[in-house]
Amino acid sequence: MTNTMTWQSGVSQAPVPPLADGMPLLGSALPLMNDPLTFLEQQYLKHGPVFTVKALNRRFTVLAGPEANQFLTAAGDAHLSGRYTWATFADEIESKYFLAAIDGEPHSRMRKILKKPYSRTAIMEQLPTAVTLTRTLLADWQPGATFVVFPTIQRLIGEQIGRLLLGSGPGDYFPDFVLFMRTLLNAVLGQWPKISLRLPPYRRAKARVMQLAADMLASHRAQPKSADDGDLIDYLLAASADNPDMLSEPELLIGALGPYLAGIDTAAGTTSFLIYALLKQPETLARLQTEIDAVFAAGPLTADRLRKMPILHATAQETLRLYPVAPMVPRTVIEPFTFAGCQLHAMEPVMAATGVAHFDPRIYRDPHRFDIDRCLPPRQETRQPGAFAPYGFGAHTCAGAGFAEVLIMLTAATLFHELEFALADPAYQLRRTYSPSPAPDKHCRVRVVRRRG
Ligand code: HEM
Repeated sequence: MTNTMTWQSGVSQAPVPPLADGMPLLGSALPLMNDPLTFLEQQYLKHGPVFTVKALNRRFTVLAGPEANQFLTAAGDAHLSGRYTWATFADEIESKYFLAAIDGEPHSRMRKILKKPYSRTAIMEQLPTAVTLTRTLLADWQPGATFVVFPTIQRLIGEQIGRLLLGSGPGDYFPDFVLFMRTLLNAVLGQWPKISLRLPPYRRAKARVMQLAADMLASHRAQPKSADDGDLIDYLLAASADNPDMLSEPELLIGALGPYLAGIDTAAGTTSFLIYALLKQPETLARLQTEIDAVFAAGPLTADRLRKMPILHATAQETLRLYPVAPMVPRTVIEPFTFAGCQLHAMEPVMAATGVAHFDPRIYRDPHRFDIDRCLPPRQETRQPGAFAPYGFGAHTCAGAGFAEVLIMLTAATLFHELEFALADPAYQLRRTYSPSPAPDKHCRVRVVRRRG
């Protein structure tokens, strides 16, 4: 595909975007609530890459498709900002430098501080430890046991993220995290009323989460390590000496929680979708297991070995394409522009529907099918312009993308090397639940058939 779509800064005589399908009063609220990505995909096919959606009292303009992803990558940061949406989140956690809510110089400074501890290299260096940890966490998954996939994987990913980046996992605080994150994100994104943030269960969960962050800082201060030998918290504590304004005590608390807030639901949702997709496609699982078994037979999983696992990498990429867990990111227009022949005005709320391009039949052959070969040579369909954006775009693109990808791959490799699974209900067909990130619903259950090897 080539980019034939143009955009231009400023106000023009161009018309406003067309209105998406909807009902009187309700607007598009029902399809948006039930299956937002499918609804946006259909509206993209009907109206093109820009249209306005009304849902009850909300109204926002959607940018979608590969054309939008190319615009967002090239010019998104100049015209759009996330700070108006994320200000509520930042206020609630009393952060002045919450990454998603800041732009410009403070944002790039904070990104630079976080670059090293959040990097792909940081987790690559710990790969054998990460696999051993994952094996330990799987030790009590006994043959015959049945579990609901998403909450189980959420807990596993929470422990992994905690122990690999923060020195310890959330342990008993895990349910508090789930309640805290779900309520806050839904309130910020307008899915739940803001009053949710005043309810006692949420306030209790928030207090406990903040207490855990304070305890983590205290234990790291009691046994200080250098930034080179330590984890994310050691790194932040060391960086606070050079950046006292940006890494004050409240920001250090949020910094210590950051990987949980951004990483648990996203990485757990993706890993859960991956498990579902493989159990539905035994021939792909067999190809993956052949690759995994050969690598594990050669020795511990190292960075070099992981880089030579094309099937595992393609499986993770195809899962991120077909089941994007952050398929849209909220923004507000800060500089007016025309896009695809339509005018967008200053302060207009926008949803950058980055995931819609993942289903474009001009790019992807049979786009709704899980097909790892599309990510491998010679097809490599994800490499076309604007085709693949699971981690967002521009300055705010996911800071933990490299970390997440390696975490998902090492978890999948360990799970399918150690254990054989089956869907508890072989006839189960995927239904998504939104928390607000999408994940397989509670009927997606898996049985441990046997320990392998
Ligand atoms: C499959 C897993 C993940 C996906 C699909 C994902 C996706 C995203 C997306 C779409 C954004 C927003 C980009 C935007 O607004 O343009 C984002 C932001 C972010 N993510 Fe991730 N994420 C994942 C896992 C993680 C993990 C594991 C971490 C940390 C360990 C992390 C840290 C962050 C941070 C700090 C931001 C804010 C970046 C900024 O505003 O500058 N993410 N992520």
